[in-house]
Amino acid sequence: MMTMSVFLLGLMTATGQAGPDQNLQMSDTVFKNVRVLKGIPVDEFMDAMGMFASSLGYDCSSCHSPEIRTNRDAFAIETPAIQRARGMITMMNSINRTYFRGEPRLSCFTCHRGNYSPEIVPSLALQYGELKEDPNAIVIFPDRNVSADQVFDKYFFRMLGGRERLAQLSTFVATGTYSGFNTGGADVPLEIFARAPDQRTQIIHLREGDGVKTYDGRNGWVAEEWRPAPLVTLTGGNLAGARLEAIMSFPAAIQNAFSQWQVGSTVIDDRPVQILQGANAGETPVNLYFDESGLLVRLVRWNKTAVGIVPTQIDYADYREVAGVKLPFRTTVTWTDGQNTLALNDVRPNVPIDSAKFTRPAPFKRR
Ligand code: HEC
Ligand code: HEC
Repeated sequence: MMTMSVFLLGLMTATGQAGPDQNLQMSDTVFKNVRVLKGIPVDEFMDAMGMFASSLGYDCSSCHSPEIRTNRDAFAIETPAIQRARGMITMMNSINRTYFRGEPRLSCFTCHRGNYSPEIVPSLALQYGELKEDPNAIVIFPDRNVSADQVFDKYFFRMLGGRERLAQLSTFVATGTYSGFNTGGADVPLEIFARAPDQRTQIIHLREGDGVKTYDGRNGWVAEEWRPAPLVTLTGGNLAGARLEAIMSFPAAIQNAFSQWQVGSTVIDDRPVQILQGANAGETPVNLYFDESGLLVRLVRWNKTAVGIVPTQIDYADYREVAGVKLPFRTTVTWTDGQNTLALNDVRPNVPIDSAKFTRPAPFKRR
């Protein structure tokens, strides 16, 4: 999936400047022609675009002017599809308000299901066909015969020789390659700096400039060439997601990061997996998927947007031992705006890392 590929070409312009306070980047101040999705953070606005693309099976340019391929400002150009989509947001909000007590029960996906023209006639193939369960479903069916502690114990035990070994891993510096929708699939150099329990910085070295993603233990930022502004402060589920990614570098801390855990089961690629769903009040949950050996193979998290909830899926593979701890050397992140893969070559454990590495990055600068 390369839905964001059109977002790449020379799209960083003055419109991307958020003004003096980088913490208050709202859709209607950063963008030029926002009529409906006003007053929401920029990262959430972009997730709303991901919701649109994913729900309708569309690319950004299916609604936006073809000029976006060369000019970022062209996202503001009115098209019939944009006008239609605005009407759909209003319709959806009105149905949710009128029939679902204002709860976001209806989203673009509820009707569209990956199609620009929702089906009207029921499908006999669907009705009589094999039922296929989505392993990423946000609602799980709890299995009360297994406790979360049991699954965690197996995971921490399989991962290493136990929690003590894990506790001894306090930092790592990794190098490898990054490839994704914004590199046209090509490998570019990657560096990751991580410090327990929850600090992480990722730097990718693109021809256009360095793309940086940082979580400092409280705040998260992205300074990447494809974002709508040179520095985007992460909010809501995206901030929680950055924290989760940092915690997962030292996974022992994950168990206490959520106040409630439920166990379930499903199937990924025809193989049975156990699900641990972690929840904190007022937040979207996280799903962790463990294969039969007890290793973590997938994580799914969600972000609430003004037009519904969008998922992010992270797949872990190629586990190798570092300082006695098994770490995934291959991570694939898939979300509604694109997909990328991080492949590590070298991980140096317990090296000192300058704290400056985990502070707010400089805005993205074109080389
Ligand atoms: C289903 C149609 C649709 C799709 C697909 C879509 N958008 Fe949009 N986009 C809109 C609408 C509608 C608005 C205006 C929202 C409003 O007025 O509140 C908009 C506005 C924007 C803006 C703000 C432009 C400005 O300066 O005012 C940006 C940036 C943007 N979209 C980026 C994207 C990206 C990137 C993608 C692909 C991931 C995408 N859009 C996919 C419908 C769409
Ligand atoms: C209650 C059901 C429903 C919901 C919810 C819904 N749509 Fe639609 N949408 C439709 C129907 C029906 C059509 C007409 C399709 C046709 O003409 O074949 C349509 C058409 C569209 C079109 C025109 C497609 C084209 O290119 O011809 C766009 C764009 C669109 N919807 C965007 C959205 C977006 C964005 C959302 C979420 C904010 C949304 N829709 C939510 C039912 C829905």
